[in-house]
Order: sequence, then structure tokens, then C-alpha cells
Amino acid sequence: MDNFSYQSPTRYVFGKGVENQTGKLVNEIGCKKIMLVYGRGSAVKSGLIDRVKASLADAGIKFTELSGICPNPTDDKVREGIDICRAENVDGLLAVGGGSVIDTAKAIAAGTLYNGDFWDFYCGKAIVKDALPIGVVLTIPAAGSEGSGNSVITNSALKQKISIRTDYALRPKFAVMNPELTLTLPMSQTAAGIADMMAHIMERYFSPTEGVETTDRLCEGLLKAIITEGRTLVENPDNYDARANIMWSGTLAHNGICGCGRREEWSAHGLEHVLSALYDVTHGAGLAVAFPAWMTYMTHKNPSKIAQFGRRVFDVDIENDREAAMEGIKRLREFFKYLSLPLTLGDLGITDPDFGKFTSDFHRDKGTPWGNYYPLYPSDTEIIYRLMQ
Ligand code: NZQ
Ligand code: ZN
Repeated sequence: MDNFSYQSPTRYVFGKGVENQTGKLVNEIGCKKIMLVYGRGSAVKSGLIDRVKASLADAGIKFTELSGICPNPTDDKVREGIDICRAENVDGLLAVGGGSVIDTAKAIAAGTLYNGDFWDFYCGKAIVKDALPIGVVLTIPAAGSEGSGNSVITNSALKQKISIRTDYALRPKFAVMNPELTLTLPMSQTAAGIADMMAHIMERYFSPTEGVETTDRLCEGLLKAIITEGRTLVENPDNYDARANIMWSGTLAHNGICGCGRREEWSAHGLEHVLSALYDVTHGAGLAVAFPAWMTYMTHKNPSKIAQFGRRVFDVDIENDREAAMEGIKRLREFFKYLSLPLTLGDLGITDPDFGKFTSDFHRDKGTPWGNYYPLYPSDTEIIYRLMQ
């Protein structure tokens, strides 16, 4: 096991009705005037935004607003938000939504305090050292941004989707998590969220670090719970406990606890971010295509951990590593199919794949080589993209 330093400072307030505590929680982190950030309509339609505003008013918190954040959020909304925060002397942000809204709020929180252009953080010119405090009201369990120090933004002009990771600066101060708020999600979004949280665990699980049985078992247990509860939600989308377990799993998948003491991978995410940037595909749906393709290639390069995944997560009973690995990937794909997730680039609507461009964009954004489990060079990467057909 490698040395590590781990702190997950976010306060998670979980359960039915907890959104009514939002104003009190904003007060407790010392904010007086915040910017409320939300998406294109779901939180307004459900009445959540009105409840959150009422809670802020009760606590005497002033607020300004930025709405209309899209999935795969873009730099233009970040710049708009930074201008508002500076003009209105905002001292904190409240994101009401999922990964796209939270990541936009994080970029604004860092950009408002920075003298240059916020994209400097994403293109590697600057490192986020400070940010306005952020609170979250989570409406979709998926990206895990409510507990992560990460933010992912797409630069529309450059067609580049870049993820940054900070240890603490961008971790939300609190996350309000009411599983009932996810009842309005279409099944396709619930399913994409499940694929994304599984991917967050698997990016940590497929590690070359030896002697990490505790985190291996933590990862396997979470994956098994997600698979069980995911199946329940296909049968009964209104099951509260399944919603609650999926929501909490999504946070544990990505708040860092599964990665302690081990080197992480993040190739499938890089492969997917190229597709999101070019085709605006839903992140979790893209991962359902990208991750099995990466695993298939790894089965030929380094099958041991892929085989362990098959045996321990999908109960594969095969001795030979390569065969156990392939059977595990088959069962993972069957699970994704059960969730009605796409399995190929064609299913994602990508009918004109330019594998050379995908490969060069991947290495432009991630560097060469990329990956710890098995380092990827362009010749490897292109084969993985071709395996997505
Ligand atoms: O815009 P609205 O109308 O709110 O609709 C949203 C959006 O269309 C809808 N939605 C959210 N909650 C809902 C709801 N619809 C009905 N009822 C509700 N309760 O769902 C759609 C997707 O929302 P989005 O925020 O995009 O989903 P998600 O949480 O999956 O976030 C995806 C983004 O997060 C990034 C992804 O790359 C992608 O850009 N990621 C962020 C990470 C991080 N910061 O740590 C890590 C991840 O790996 C990921 O890359
Ligand atoms: Zn993800």
C-alpha cells in the first residue's frame, strides 16, 4: 500500500426533507450573499428551487442567480457567473443540481478569486489555490462532484473537455442529499449515473499497487451494492431505499475513500471525455461504452485485476485469468444492457468515428503515455477506440 493523506471535509446532510436545512447550512459556513446556480429547468419544475429560496430567505441569506447550466457544461456560463459574482460581491455559491451545475459553480468559485482567465486552471497554466465556499443540493447521483475536489468543464471553442483535481480547494463545504429529489429523473439519467459511479470506483480499483485488500474490498462491496440497487430501480424506480443507497454510493465512489493508498487509472474517463467534447454524449452513457473496451484491451496486456473484478464482483468461477476477465466484462456489459445503456459508439449516435482524431485528442489532453495499470501510447489508444464499435 502507498502512503497517503486523506481528508474528506464535506458535511453530508442526508435524507427526506433535508433541503429545508439549506439556509441554515449556508449560514453555518459564514456566507451572507450567495449565487444560486442551477440547470435548465428540472429543479424549477419540481418546486425544489422555490423550497431552497424559502430556506435561504428564512435564514436571512441574500442571493443572486445563474441558471441554464447544460450537461457537459461550458466555459461561457463560467465566465458569466464570474462576472456576476464580482459585480454583486458574492461570498459563496450554492449549486442545486448534478455534476454539471456543481462543476460550473466550482469553476466560478475559483475563477472569481483569480486575476487571470479561469481556463488557465483547466489548460494547466495555473493551479487552484483558493476558491469561494461552495454548498450543494444534489439532484442526481452520478458524478460524485458533491464530495470530490474535481471540476470538469468544456471549452466550446477548443472542443476540449478538461477535468481538474484539487485536494481540498474545490471540495464542497456541505452537500444536502435527499434521495426523494431523484424520483423525477428519467431512467436513462439514473442508468448513466450508475455507470458513472461504477466507473469512479473501477478507475481506482484497476491499480498496479499491491497490498490494498482493504480498498479492494471496499470497491468490490460498493460495486455489488450498486448492481443490486440498480437492478431494483429498473424494476421499481420509486423504491426509496434503493434511491438512497445509490445516492450514497455515488458519493463514496468519488470522494476519495476508494483510492486511499493506491495509484489510480482514469483512462476510461479520458477516453470518454473526448467523445463528450466532440459529440456532447451523456458522460455515464459514454463510460458504458468506453470502460468495457479498455478492460477488453487490458485483458490482453495485464489480465490479473480484470480477472479479480470478474470473480469478486460478478461471481465468475473460472480459474484462467484471461477467461475470467472476459467473462466478467461480458457480465458487466449485460448489466449495462439491463439498464438500457448504450454498448457501442453506434448506440451513442456516433456513426462517423474518426479514430485517429479521438486518439490524438486523448493524448493532447492526457499526455503520452497515460495510465498506471498499463501505460497507453497512441497505438494502444486507437485500438481501444476501435473496440468500442
Ligand atoms: O438541466 P436540468 O433541467 O436540471 O436537467 C438535468 C440534466 O439534463 C437532469 N436532472 C438533474 N437532476 C434531475 C434531473 N432531471 C430530473 N430530475 C432531477 N432530479 O439530468 C441531466 C444531467 O445532469 P448533469 O448535472 O449533467 O448530470 P451528472 O451529475 O451526471 O453530471 C455530468 C457532468 O459531470 C462531469 C461529467 O463529465 C459531466 O460533465 N463529471 C464530474 C466529476 C467531478 N466533478 O468530480 C467527475 C465525473 O467523472 C464527471 O466527469
Ligand atoms: Zn465520471
